Amino acid sequence: MAERSGRLRWAAWAACLGLCGVALALLAAVLVRAYVLRPPPGPRLWERGAALGFQLSARDRQELKEALRGAIKIQTVSFSPEDQNTTALAEFGNYIQKVFPAVFSTKFIQHEIIGGYSHLFTVQGSDPQLMPYMLLAHMDVVPASQEGWHVPPFSAKELDGFIYGRGTLDNKNSAIGILQALEFLLRRDYRPRRSFYIGIGHDEEVSGHKGAMKIAALLKARGVKLSFLLDEGSVILDGFLEGIKTPVAVLEQNPMPNLFGHGPEIMILEHLASEFRFPLNLIMTNLWLFSPIVSRILEQKPSTNALVRTTTAITMFNAGIKSNVIPPSAKATVNFRIHPSQKVEEVLEIVRNTIADDRVKIHLQEAFDPLPTSPWDNHAFGVQIFRRTLLDVFPDVSSVAPGICIGNTDSRHFTNLTDAIYRFNPLVFKPDDLPRVHGLNERISTEGYEKQVEFLYQLIQNSDISKLPEPHINSHEL
Ligand SMILES: *[C@@H]1O[C@H](CO)[C@@H](O)[C@H](O)[C@H]1NC(C)=O
Ligand SMILES: *[C@@H]1O[C@H](CO)[C@@H](O)[C@H](O)[C@H]1NC(C)=O
Repeated sequence: MAERSGRLRWAAWAACLGLCGVALALLAAVLVRAYVLRPPPGPRLWERGAALGFQLSARDRQELKEALRGAIKIQTVSFSPEDQNTTALAEFGNYIQKVFPAVFSTKFIQHEIIGGYSHLFTVQGSDPQLMPYMLLAHMDVVPASQEGWHVPPFSAKELDGFIYGRGTLDNKNSAIGILQALEFLLRRDYRPRRSFYIGIGHDEEVSGHKGAMKIAALLKARGVKLSFLLDEGSVILDGFLEGIKTPVAVLEQNPMPNLFGHGPEIMILEHLASEFRFPLNLIMTNLWLFSPIVSRILEQKPSTNALVRTTTAITMFNAGIKSNVIPPSAKATVNFRIHPSQKVEEVLEIVRNTIADDRVKIHLQEAFDPLPTSPWDNHAFGVQIFRRTLLDVFPDVSSVAPGICIGNTDSRHFTNLTDAIYRFNPLVFKPDDLPRVHGLNERISTEGYEKQVEFLYQLIQNSDISKLPEPHINSHEL
């Protein structure tokens, strides 16, 4: 009896030791990953500063602001693919000729109008050996309701340092900003070494079939290959991943499956891991262990939910014609933003199985699979150019990380020209800025817009480097 109980105690001890061993090993692994394994640093890049600095006179500043305001006032609204304000689209073309005289009179820049209203600029670099790149933007905007705005949506009024109006963020800031940066460079006698293209589409909000798609087809027919393409997209996020203390109710009753860990989101968080405060840094560097918790947290907020799943939004619902007649049918339009690791067909399958009712007919209006993930490493030319330019222009930015852009943009038409498509707006966004895009009171700060132009001004110059420098090896590290 005694002997037996002794053996039992020993077994219990051993089990406990084993468990403690596992726990200690886990803790050690977590600490090592958090404090030793940092994301690899980028190659130590060039000496700082492009050749032409971005100093603006008071007059330049005024001109920069007025050029954007004038563009906002032109009502380039896309109501549907068949219904666009073509008067305004044509007016926009005349407008850019007027405000960017150097761009339109420089001999090494060719300007073409594509699909009636879109614009393609070919800027010929002095070294034809260097593979060109492309900057893409669009001039059309979504409609704006008259109610709910502080100022009329096409007035471009200034309030407290902000220019208000439809298109200030999506995407006349880029369309006008790119041309403005080039205009300033040309006036300072700049000539690029590396050729580049500027594309300004006129129907991005309603598919891009008439504008961007034709630009892409034309470039493909000319045998063009791009080293990278920069399009509108995500922004510099300030305060998005913090303050998750007040969870927002998740509205969807049957949300799409959580796909955390199947797409590029792990790479995103690992790049950002060391930026988080304790103890979040422990968690983010150990997603192999903590991903169930992290994915739960991310799905609490609409702004981060799209990182973990295909999102669902009912955008239109129609039923009935009179209050006293029961409608014979009802129709709902649903907009899905598909997670990079899912395909259209998989989403449809889930929808069919969830509804599980033959009376409900499902029609696919328009769909395409998510784009492949673009390269993101120390050898990706575009990424290193962006990183350098960001650090030049936004010294406060602590980390440049890959992201998932949930909106569809014109760049999806360019996948035959390059696999390096990046979507980024060099603008600092606070959480309350996000709903302004396509929503009420869309606005840009004049300071923010100036920074965007500076970013583009430096990006164009930084892209002239013929190849990325080799990662620098310090003799102390050998
Ligand atoms: C179309 O644009 C023109 C020029 O900006 C404007 O005068 C007109 O009101 C716009 N029409 C609609 C329906 O938006
Ligand atoms: C790419 O080229 C192929 C073959 O010409 C074509 O079928 C396809 O539609 C093109 N893709 C895009 C996005 O234009």
